[in-house]
Amino acid sequence: MADKRKITVIGGGVGGYTAAIKAARLGADVILIEKDLLGGTCLNRGCIPTKALLQAAEVVQTIEEAPLFGIRCDDHRIDFTAVAKRKDAVVGQLRTGVASLLKRRRIKMVSGTAFFKDASTVEIKETGQKLESDNIIVTSGSQPGRIALEGSDAPGVLDSDQVLELTELPQSLVIIGGGVVGVEFAQIFKQLGAAITLLEMMPTLIPGADREIAQALEKSLSEAGIEVVTQIAVKKIGRRKGQHKVAFEHAGHLKNVSAEKVILAVGRKPNTAGLGLDRIGLGHNNGTITVNEQMQTNIPHIYGAGDAVGGLMLAHKAMAEGEYAAAGIMGGKTAVKPKEIPNCIYTSPEVASVGMTEAQAAQFHDIEAVRFPFTACAKALLMNRTFGMVKIVAEKKFGQVLGVHIIGPHATDMIAEAVLGMSLEMTVDELAQAVHPHPTLSEAVMEAGQMFCGGAAHLP
Ligand code: NAI
Repeated sequence: MADKRKITVIGGGVGGYTAAIKAARLGADVILIEKDLLGGTCLNRGCIPTKALLQAAEVVQTIEEAPLFGIRCDDHRIDFTAVAKRKDAVVGQLRTGVASLLKRRRIKMVSGTAFFKDASTVEIKETGQKLESDNIIVTSGSQPGRIALEGSDAPGVLDSDQVLELTELPQSLVIIGGGVVGVEFAQIFKQLGAAITLLEMMPTLIPGADREIAQALEKSLSEAGIEVVTQIAVKKIGRRKGQHKVAFEHAGHLKNVSAEKVILAVGRKPNTAGLGLDRIGLGHNNGTITVNEQMQTNIPHIYGAGDAVGGLMLAHKAMAEGEYAAAGIMGGKTAVKPKEIPNCIYTSPEVASVGMTEAQAAQFHDIEAVRFPFTACAKALLMNRTFGMVKIVAEKKFGQVLGVHIIGPHATDMIAEAVLGMSLEMTVDELAQAVHPHPTLSEAVMEAGQMFCGGAAHLP
């Protein structure tokens, strides 16, 4: 029997462990190297722990609006230590689950820091162990970026990893950066009772999102009592009366805001510094590994996936790319590169989108954009979640859907329909004619489609 193909995967985050499982399923002999915790950023310091906090924040919201539903909940208090404990328990349970999946597939786990000894050999820094293989997949992920700013290294100025280690709820927070991380933390900590100021240097939050959706999100955060200031330039972080004082310029004036803690949420950078990419001549752009359509680097037997190769730094993109790389290595000619990658923001209301924004689509196509508000959706009214809309951007002549943007309840679940539809080059007629169950939130997506085709049933 021919020897099994040997594959080494560097990094046991969501991109790496899914690549390892896929490769093992396809018959490879797989080694997975992880220097820290299995599950990487998503499981340990990202998606999962933040969503555990968010779930707690949602429980608070539900209790607070209970009287609207005729339920009296006269007293509640937040035990943040218990909230943090539950978050850690969920993370721990999922991590054990991943470990057992790897074990079942007979994937060998190596604990330590990997670097390239040469193009076919990976060495473990701590032990000197050398691992030779036919293929290597680099899924080393990313870490929070920092900015060169006076005072940003002071204790109490936290990046997104450090925020998740808090065991006590801060009374007040200044968040620098109004991207995905910034708005999610703003929402969570506001709901849990902290006073929040959110500072963003660009004209809108979530630069890159559809402008109308970003503006709606800003409105909802402001209505929730979060102080949002855009078009600012942060000057320095100092101290005043035991608090952090953030000095920033806004509309030509120098202003200050003080808080117990400061969160820096100004983007992430790939984790490739110690890998020895230059030693083996592996192509990268300032640390972001360069890959082709097949996720192959310039050294054909080395592949990359996830945050380490840049683009959208999203867990589901990393998983899709990791599996695609593994399938490509194993000769999976039928492996198809994922086309449509959804973007999700887990605020309340949630935001989710796929495809082009209205402005992007208008550059290349003759387009029409429609909006179906959740105020016209019976299920949204039942849930008392009528803020938001489904916005569809479509090409006028054939009606092909080019972008779907949702702000509203369960937007991040509902976007999956648009992802599937757009992957199959869905038109607005097809969406409008697909029968959606009633009463559900998903009807809002269908009715937005109907607006292109003579009108939505529940709008005048
Ligand atoms: P980001 O790139 O989404 O946002 C960073 C924000 O900080 C931008 O709006 C930028 O204009 C602003 N900024 C940068 N420097 C600044 C300064 N000096 N002063 C004020 N504002 C400044 O990065 P973020 O939010 O840190 O997220 C990192 C990555 O993690 C993103 O790629 C994101 O997609 C991913 N992520 C995804 C999540 C999700 O899917 N729900 C959740 C959390 C993170």
